[in-house]
Amino acid sequence: MKDIVQELENRRAIARAGGGDARIAAQHAKGKLTARERIDLLLDEGSFEEFDMFVAHRCTDFGMEQSRPSGDGVVTGWGTVNGRMVYVFSQDFTVFGGSLSETHAEKICKIMDMAIQNGAPVIGINDSGGARIQEGVASLAGYAEVFQRNVMASGVVPQISVIMGPCAGGAVYSPAMTDFIFMVKDSSYMFVTGPDVVKTVTNEVVTAEELGGASTHTRKSSVADGAFENDVEALSEIRRLVDFLPLSNREKPPTRPYFDAHDRIEPSLDTLIPDNANTPYDMNELIRKLADEGDFFEIQAEFAKNILTGFIRLEGTTVGVVANQPMVLAGCLDIDSSRKAARFVRFCDAFEIPILTLVDVPGFLPGTGQEYGGVIKHGAKLLFAYGEATVPKVTVITRKAYGGAYDVMSSKHLRGDFNYAWPTAEIAVMGAKGAVEILYRSELGDPEKIAARTADYESRFANPFVAAEKGFIDEVIAPRSTRKRVCRAFASLRGKQQKNPWKKHDNIPL
Ligand code: HXC
Repeated sequence: MKDIVQELENRRAIARAGGGDARIAAQHAKGKLTARERIDLLLDEGSFEEFDMFVAHRCTDFGMEQSRPSGDGVVTGWGTVNGRMVYVFSQDFTVFGGSLSETHAEKICKIMDMAIQNGAPVIGINDSGGARIQEGVASLAGYAEVFQRNVMASGVVPQISVIMGPCAGGAVYSPAMTDFIFMVKDSSYMFVTGPDVVKTVTNEVVTAEELGGASTHTRKSSVADGAFENDVEALSEIRRLVDFLPLSNREKPPTRPYFDAHDRIEPSLDTLIPDNANTPYDMNELIRKLADEGDFFEIQAEFAKNILTGFIRLEGTTVGVVANQPMVLAGCLDIDSSRKAARFVRFCDAFEIPILTLVDVPGFLPGTGQEYGGVIKHGAKLLFAYGEATVPKVTVITRKAYGGAYDVMSSKHLRGDFNYAWPTAEIAVMGAKGAVEILYRSELGDPEKIAARTADYESRFANPFVAAEKGFIDEVIAPRSTRKRVCRAFASLRGKQQKNPWKKHDNIPL
């Protein structure tokens, strides 16, 4: 018996050593942690339960039968994050460059199947040279099996991808189908074809970092939702994110202890809106002043900055926030901000996370760039996402809510449950200047008349009361009491039940 136990320990030690000391040193030299070190940082201490530690590949081509390392380049299992269960896979670059073989894929599929069945998120740590070249189509089949499970898991359990090394070729499509992708600056990259192929086909000369580094994907392509300085920061921020998320679509969002009075008054909000309607202010400030303990986990902070998306807690419970940002492009909606917010709204709705919408929007961005780029279809994504969402929806209009963008931003007409406005709200088809120029074109040569017309239009529409008279705004509220009003609104909606008509699935304008 003693010998057998000793053999088990020996085998475990060999498996834990991965590709060996030299390759681990090379990994560290690149500023990267190993697959196991990453799991240790991600999960609560001592909570990791490993599966398939002794799985080895079955390939006999290219002399592969001579080298069959235990675990086959990926560490899989489950553990807890602040006591809540998650499944995890972590690719081990020190074993065949973390490349994906048939058996490597089977290990990932096993934990994904368990995650769907048992209702817990999947966190995938990607650090891989892609398809195991020696295995050919068996490896491609393995990827497809993972892809299929990404689709099945979508909307059932949260899926989070952390890119901590290479992720190239078709391999990118597994993270691409997950809910969130995070990258590590300077040590991770994602692209469908690498710099060499790009050079051959298009003659463009580009580095891996320029083509698919964290900066590219958080600022330009919006493929990634955030980037962190190093592995340690990335993993601790993923822990923070997991705390906001329900474990599956069968659960309500988590509620945690909070130390912030639900009726906290914020007198400073009374002066947040500048006297001049065209002067910007920082919507971030409002979000943080509403949130429990000012904690805001922002999603896609570096992309389409004219809209803010992310998670806060109110009375300890997770709420998704979508907010126009007047500091950037005056907070207008455009292609990028519509896409960004629509995906966020759909995530929240899929996982029963209530949505708080803060509105200060002068309309959709005009121009050929927007029209040729399909702003009609992209803007419709956000409209559609709000319209189909059945989670509790609370909206606060702080200043402008003009035109179609008023409708889009979780208006009463899209089944907003509570639609509040600050006294500074202006709800109209467009701003006074534009309106008067259209309505009184013949008087444009007479500045006095135009000034009078503008003043008249402003007195009629530059306020929330016309909308409030019609019941489109439920209540005009004092800015200082917004946290209290919003908390009470969400509390009253905890029992909300709303169903859309039966359908196989909708046809959101993709
Ligand atoms: C088998 C691989 C491998 C792979 C790397 N290795 N990629 N083994 N299959 N795909 C092995 C190397 O042979 C080496 O083994 C070890 O991993 C480390 O690789 P290095 O090249 O020494 O590391 P580095 O210099 O850091 O370069 C990393 C790399 C490079 C950029 C990822 O290895 C590389 O270009 N690999 C091939 C990438 C690729 O073309 N993959 C296929 C993409 S297509 P030793 O024993 O020397 O340590 C694809 C299709 C998916 O993935 C389709 C899904 C539908």
